[in-house]
Amino acid sequence: MSKPLISRRAAALSGSAKVPGDKSVSHRALMFGALAVGESRVEGLLEGDDVLRTAAAMRALGAEVERLDDGSWRLYGRGVGGLKEPEDVLDLGNSGTGARLMMGLVATHPFTTVFTGDASLRSRPMKRVSLPLSQMGAQFFGRDGGRLPMAVVGTGNPLPITYELPVASAQVKSAILLAGLNTPGQTTVIEREATRDHTELMLRNFGAQVDVEHGDQGQRIITVTGFPELTGRHVIVPADPSSAAFPAVAAIITPGSDIVLTGVGINPLRTGLYQTLREMGADLAFENQREDGGEQVADLRVRHSALMGVDVPAERAPSMIDEYPILAVAAAFATGTTRMFGLSELRVKESDRFAATLRGLLACGVQVEEDGDTLIVHGSGKPPMGGATIAVNLDHRIAMAFLVLGMAAAEAVAVDDAEAIDTSFPGFVQLMNGLGAKVATTDAIV
Ligand code: S3P
Repeated sequence: MSKPLISRRAAALSGSAKVPGDKSVSHRALMFGALAVGESRVEGLLEGDDVLRTAAAMRALGAEVERLDDGSWRLYGRGVGGLKEPEDVLDLGNSGTGARLMMGLVATHPFTTVFTGDASLRSRPMKRVSLPLSQMGAQFFGRDGGRLPMAVVGTGNPLPITYELPVASAQVKSAILLAGLNTPGQTTVIEREATRDHTELMLRNFGAQVDVEHGDQGQRIITVTGFPELTGRHVIVPADPSSAAFPAVAAIITPGSDIVLTGVGINPLRTGLYQTLREMGADLAFENQREDGGEQVADLRVRHSALMGVDVPAERAPSMIDEYPILAVAAAFATGTTRMFGLSELRVKESDRFAATLRGLLACGVQVEEDGDTLIVHGSGKPPMGGATIAVNLDHRIAMAFLVLGMAAAEAVAVDDAEAIDTSFPGFVQLMNGLGAKVATTDAIV
């Protein structure tokens, strides 16, 4: 564990910054580049630990993956069905996306892959992917009811399936669609609530046939046709809206702030937080909207604003699933009660984020309650007390959310592990301090 970080009350935040590349898009760009024939180039790749592990895993599966001097990444893929058995265990670190999507990839290749990860990833449920992938013919030998380390014995005779997702999860959807690439016929995933669609968009861009229909109860029915010829592409990764959430909320809660976050992805299946912040009264605008490499982007202009509590419906959860810790921090500065419904998936993220958010807010003097899967934050309209040290438990978003709270709370807030932040937001401290925040490493715990 690295040194703790401490965040003190800052004066107004100002200026412009670009947060690192989108984590979801970055993982997929590397995986699809590894399956494509010919050269792919990726610009703006997130060089956080999660994605670097996916890059290493793609090399272990036979693709050529290299970082060029100009900071872009070049891949030469193996073609659909062309991955090779890795010689060693694949260690995906902290990354659920890396592990689950890759399980889908290797499930329909006739070889054995062993996956492991850090203590957080080893505790996360994998049955959600092993169950449908077993129906396609792969075998899974995991620890403790389906946890990593896990061996995946891929099948050489995969069967296409139609699978209705029992949980709203883009990771599970993507794992099945990726397994479907090397499967004859059509593999279909039905989701009751739309989850992020980067897999569908980018697979199409690489040349796969991916059809999306809508069922009579609003379900999305996504079908991939097996054995497409994927060809190398140029991918431009937008800045991550889930990372932009931290400086955006920091500006909203810090008096006098006015910042711009450039080139942020605004795919509508990712922007639930921004919709919610606007409903709370945030002064937040998407400026210069444009399309960049198949994804919509905008510059986010965010100013300090007085917030009101709101109800956040359960249906919105998939479009902001990673943003609840930072939304709860925003809610702690609001006037009135914010109720966030339908948060069961928060309990199986990099940590139990429901519990971590609740515990951390309580420690910072915020009035907060849980009611089943609903998190309820009572904002007094005044900055919370702060003055606590938060246990990060290998969860980058918990670390960043509480450092943001410390930027506008009465007393400083510390987090016990700076390193976790590198999984998704390398350079977080420098970027925030560049905008005027006061985050520093410390030996002392508050
Ligand atoms: C991701 C999907 C989400 C999200 C994760 C990235 C993806 O997980 O929490 O950070 O890239 O598909 P679930 O789909 O399991 O909710």
